[in-house]
Amino acid sequence: MQTITIKKSKSLKGEISVPGDKSISHRAIMLGAIAEGDSHISGFLEGEDNICTLNAFRLMGIEIERIKKGKLIIHGKGLNGLKEPFDVIDAGNSGTTTRLLTGLLAGQNFLSVITGDEYLRKRPMKRVIEPLSRMGAVIHGRDKGNLAPLVIIGRKLKAMDYVSSIASAQVKSAILLAGLFAEGITSVTEPVKSRDHTERMLKAFGADISVDGLKIKMKGGSRIMAQDMDIPGDISSAAFFIVAGLITKGSEILIKNVGVNLTRTGILDILKRMGGDIELLNERELSGEPVADILVKSSSLKGIEIESEDVPRAIDEFPILCIAASAAEGRTVVTGASELRVKESDRIATMGMELKKMGVKVEELPDGMIIQGAQGFKGPAPAGSRQGGARVQSHGDHRVAMSMIVAGLVTDGGTKVEDIVCIDTSFPGFLKKLSELGYRI
Ligand code: S3P
Repeated sequence: MQTITIKKSKSLKGEISVPGDKSISHRAIMLGAIAEGDSHISGFLEGEDNICTLNAFRLMGIEIERIKKGKLIIHGKGLNGLKEPFDVIDAGNSGTTTRLLTGLLAGQNFLSVITGDEYLRKRPMKRVIEPLSRMGAVIHGRDKGNLAPLVIIGRKLKAMDYVSSIASAQVKSAILLAGLFAEGITSVTEPVKSRDHTERMLKAFGADISVDGLKIKMKGGSRIMAQDMDIPGDISSAAFFIVAGLITKGSEILIKNVGVNLTRTGILDILKRMGGDIELLNERELSGEPVADILVKSSSLKGIEIESEDVPRAIDEFPILCIAASAAEGRTVVTGASELRVKESDRIATMGMELKKMGVKVEELPDGMIIQGAQGFKGPAPAGSRQGGARVQSHGDHRVAMSMIVAGLVTDGGTKVEDIVCIDTSFPGFLKKLSELGYRI
């Protein structure tokens, strides 16, 4: 367990890039492995979550060469090339590894077992197991098949039409990956569009897939052909610097080469509605994904209402949005966000608890929260009579850890953030990036 003390920061200035997109990096390994031929990948995120996905495919006999940092060659073995994993697959902290792999492995002709860390083993898996069972999958788990470790007894699957009640890219992707190995046409319909990297990448790799509004249709058995990919920077990682730039007086930050897929840019729209000065420059396309440089200047933010339609496009950004809301003038109300309760931690509870320690007035709702912002740039107020010096916890959640560090940048008295090793699950080098912007660690 590593602890850091964050002091109030002067203005943050400069140009940075952020590591590759976590969601796209997972999918690049998965599709590269089942493609025919060699896929050359650059910009791969070497965070712990993605390394778990990479190791899982190595266990299944896929050769993956690391040329240099972020640069891989995946020697794909085609749709029927995976081998029974030689050991239990360790998904670490990664929900995406677990859920997407469960879909992909359900239709293989072998047995696999997936487990993960203490946090992952508490997260609900029924959301993928239930629809996959309808396709004929046989998957066992603890808690009547809801919790990992999961035992997947691969077998022939049949296609289905699935209407999902949750906007979840992990559920959608698990079904589509299972559908690739099923006979017939599988369709998934979502209530609100979630991130669409799986659909985009399946298409680029040659799958027979079509998207019509919220419905995606895919034909089983399509040949998947190797592709070269350059993965853009992760907007979910950029979000910490976007908010840091907005709430730290006199700041100006340019974040280069960030993925700005519309299913991911909810954070930009929400922050702009709060009064954030954010500009997209040099918009272009990279390996089938929209990309831009993001220019952020410090701004006076105001509280707003965030409702359920806004949630899926910003699902991973709520911890850092809580910090923006704490630094804003007035009240921010978040509703329709009960999915936050089943992320790496219960992010409504953990953010509520930690912000209170910093003196912020927060009220927890079953599906969101109400945050009473401070005036101007005081940011999260120092805890009560102790002038700052709050001691806060990550709860093993990488995004909570980084959010509390950003809160510390605008707080007097030194904020101690405990258990920050988890940052490496998605953003190794986070603190170094902060120092590139002028913050003295
Ligand atoms: C992800 C989807 C989201 C997100 C997670 C990554 C993905 O989860 O929170 O960090 O890569 O598909 P849900 O699909 O469960 O909302």
